[in-house]
Amino acid sequence: MGIESEKWILMVTARTPTNIAVIKYWGKRDETLILPINDSISLTLDPTHLSTTTTVSVSPTFHQDRMWLNGKEISLQGGRFQSCLREIRARAQDVQDKKKGIDIKKEDWQKLHLHIASYNNFPTAAGLASSAAGLACLVFSLAKLMNLKEDNSQLSAIARQGSGSACRSLYGGFVKWVMGKEDNGSDSLAVQLADEKHWDELVIIIAVVSARQKETSSTSGMRDTVETSALIQHRAKEVVPKRIVQMEDAIQNRDFPSFARLACTDSNQFHAVCLDTYPPIFYMNDTSHRIISCVEKWNRAEGAPQVAYTFDAGPNAVMIARNRKTAALLLQRLLYNFPPESDTDLGRVNNFI
Ligand code: ADP
Ligand code: DP6
Ligand code: CO
Repeated sequence: MGIESEKWILMVTARTPTNIAVIKYWGKRDETLILPINDSISLTLDPTHLSTTTTVSVSPTFHQDRMWLNGKEISLQGGRFQSCLREIRARAQDVQDKKKGIDIKKEDWQKLHLHIASYNNFPTAAGLASSAAGLACLVFSLAKLMNLKEDNSQLSAIARQGSGSACRSLYGGFVKWVMGKEDNGSDSLAVQLADEKHWDELVIIIAVVSARQKETSSTSGMRDTVETSALIQHRAKEVVPKRIVQMEDAIQNRDFPSFARLACTDSNQFHAVCLDTYPPIFYMNDTSHRIISCVEKWNRAEGAPQVAYTFDAGPNAVMIARNRKTAALLLQRLLYNFPPESDTDLGRVNNFI
């Protein structure tokens, strides 16, 4: 029986958390394959908090591939979505569901169409890595639907072609995106450095300074940086390689002072290269700067870092407290310095353990 003559629908739903880089990826050496100019390291958040939920479905009654993001239809024509779909379809396997009478052969996936519905439970395109959770979830759910045999590291290389940071969300815990050497990107993938239990006293607190969509997407921002900044070459070649080694050690040894120092200085350098881009890119705002001062003052007064901060391509603060006690004190300080309903109301201060 031909697949066209049947009426059935097959669905898979997956949820994927976002990840926040503590050594940042910023700059590509290949725009199409999404190959970075340096390694990066991130923490994958708990999936019950900032995450994407995606349902992918296939049916012979669908006439084209379609996608809805947060309830609104978006185009799948972009090169990145097409790269992911092409790579996954090329690896698709036979799928059978005898109860439903479904019998899909490998080659059928080339002509079957997909409907994809995705929701982010946090602001999209606001510097909280929605592209990371979103594209990782898309690749993962499609891989399940089409019964791929590839492991998470091979899937990470596909997710990378959707959004670079997405490759790191295929793993939990502490993850490194190895930039790789090959021109075809075959060795540019994510590896897990340590799982989520390794350093579980850390508490992540996210202050949503602004949920608005940023003016400069990460993709175009880093393209401008690579084209115009002189500092970015120094960062990628001299600074990051040393920090990667030091950060791996800090994570392995649960050395919070080193971890915090590296995360804060790397975030600051990333925003410095944004300022060194022409025309300059300002992702942080006055409230972001006030949060940095607040944390820095506290860390100095304590004589050793209690909290690390890092800001992605947006004004929202990600703070990492060394333990629950410090996290409670940090929340108190934030609420005192940025009172609710005031001009600097942080909107939502989320506590992620
Ligand atoms: P962010 O800082 O949120 O990652 P980016 O500029 O890197 O911002 O990427 C935002 C883009 O990522 C969105 O405009 C959209 O194209 C894509 N994106 C975000 N969430 C999803 C999702 N759940 N599924 C597919 N694509 C998504
Ligand atoms: C500042 O992965 O969003 O969050 O690869 O063009 O999709 P594309 O960019 P994206 O860039 C993320 C940049 C960052 C740092 C990081 O996550 O490492
Ligand atoms: Co992004």
